[in-house]
Amino acid sequence: ADELEVKWLGTPIKELKRMPECGSVLPPLRDVPGEHTVMIRTDLLRRGRVPVPYPAQFKDTWDDVHVKMPCSSSNLFPVLDEVTAQVLKLTKNNCQNVKNKYELHIQICARLLLIPIPLLKGGMNHSITMSQEQVACLLANAFFCTFPRRNSRRNEYCNYPDINFFRLFEGSSQMKIEKLKTLMCYFKSFTEQKPTGLVTFTRKSLDKPLNWTRCSTQLTKLHITCEGTIEDDGHGMLQVDFANQFVGGGVTGSGLVQEEIRFLINPELIISRLFTEALDPNECLIIKGTQQYSKYTGYSHTYQWGGSHRDTTPRDGWQRRCTEIVAIDALQFKNFLEQFNPDKLNRELNKAYCGFARPEERSQNLAAVATGNWGCGVFGGDARLKALLQMLAAAEAGRDVAYFTFGDSQLMTDVHKMHSFLTQRKVCVGEVYDLLGKYHSSVCKSCPSRRPDVSLYSFIYQQVGSSPAPDDSTRRHVPG
Ligand code: AR6
Repeated sequence: ADELEVKWLGTPIKELKRMPECGSVLPPLRDVPGEHTVMIRTDLLRRGRVPVPYPAQFKDTWDDVHVKMPCSSSNLFPVLDEVTAQVLKLTKNNCQNVKNKYELHIQICARLLLIPIPLLKGGMNHSITMSQEQVACLLANAFFCTFPRRNSRRNEYCNYPDINFFRLFEGSSQMKIEKLKTLMCYFKSFTEQKPTGLVTFTRKSLDKPLNWTRCSTQLTKLHITCEGTIEDDGHGMLQVDFANQFVGGGVTGSGLVQEEIRFLINPELIISRLFTEALDPNECLIIKGTQQYSKYTGYSHTYQWGGSHRDTTPRDGWQRRCTEIVAIDALQFKNFLEQFNPDKLNRELNKAYCGFARPEERSQNLAAVATGNWGCGVFGGDARLKALLQMLAAAEAGRDVAYFTFGDSQLMTDVHKMHSFLTQRKVCVGEVYDLLGKYHSSVCKSCPSRRPDVSLYSFIYQQVGSSPAPDDSTRRHVPG
């Protein structure tokens, strides 16, 4: 076939596992103190019905381990503070009607969010499950900037992402207008038809880093394509969010790349910013059950809201959409060579592994990982290295990989070739890891320029001591 026509390589995507087909049966949903906070009445949970908040009365809490709520009696600015007044002005609708709506949101908040929301702090392994209606109520409050102590980062929430939307109303860039259109589509859709599902947010840490040299697992299957996106073609898979340590990155400000776009089209993700402290190197945030409300076109400066989207993703036994997204933040590299340092390699491997591994599940029940150039856009990483690191982490986690190169067909060819090479020669995870270390010590450490003179992949081909492509007989060289 004509090389130019090739749009994907490796295992056909239909052979990779997806949820809900591959999943195991869920245990009944229940609140587990210290582990899982469930904010709705599980006994009344029914398909197609708006879930009922738990318990029956608002519990007013104002402390260091829970979200400080706008409706709390301890909130000194329960009606209108300066920022919110500004927001109302900027929404060009500074009439009594909007003011009433605003006050109503605070009241609704007290009716729908009865138990305090725990903060997911660094080092905690904890889940929060709430209804899509509760999320919407919180997001409406974020829109009106009502969360107390959250309009500046100079206070107790300095290690948390911004949640109030005030930055979205600053300036008049086309990008912000398109962001607001996307968010308004969500609020409109919500008011037209209340969604009836639940969403779970799980903060998870890896208790101890893996000893990667010792990993004897073989690589898993790879589907790689230069077409499509994680969100469209990775449905039912574990979808990677190329995150910031402050989850959602610049979504409530001016950022507009992979993570921000995902948070805009699935706005329920944004509420994770309310309670998720900055991620540590060994941590990730897993979000199950968010819904896509908008389509989009373009990317970054060319991003445009593309109209409303009807999400038909099936729901699981807990009434969550079978959409699982994992936020893992890559390291930002200013200097190309730095990423090959063993401590950076370990950090990225453990971060990805933390995101992909589900030790409580059997490999046969795990969907493939849908990913792509993690850490290789704004964060400046090398896609060939990151693809390999993610394949190692996925293999160790017992999951296949669907890799979206976002239009880069050379990358597709190169990564596929490397994957086939390693698989055919049965090079295991630990051996690849050792080769990475060797590449650092023999190529990168002594490199006088900003770029290594031997690429990582050619180094691996050389070291494994055979031809670049097993089926490429013209380029076979004499071993030794
Ligand atoms: N599906 C598959 N691949 C994609 C998609 C998509 N929908 N969108 C983009 N890509 P980037 P980073 C590819 O720069 O380098 C945010 O502000 C595309 O090739 O978003 O990890 C976060 O909050 C793109 O260049 O991720 C962080 O602050 C590449 O993925 C920071 O950016 C990387 O996307 C993270 O930067």
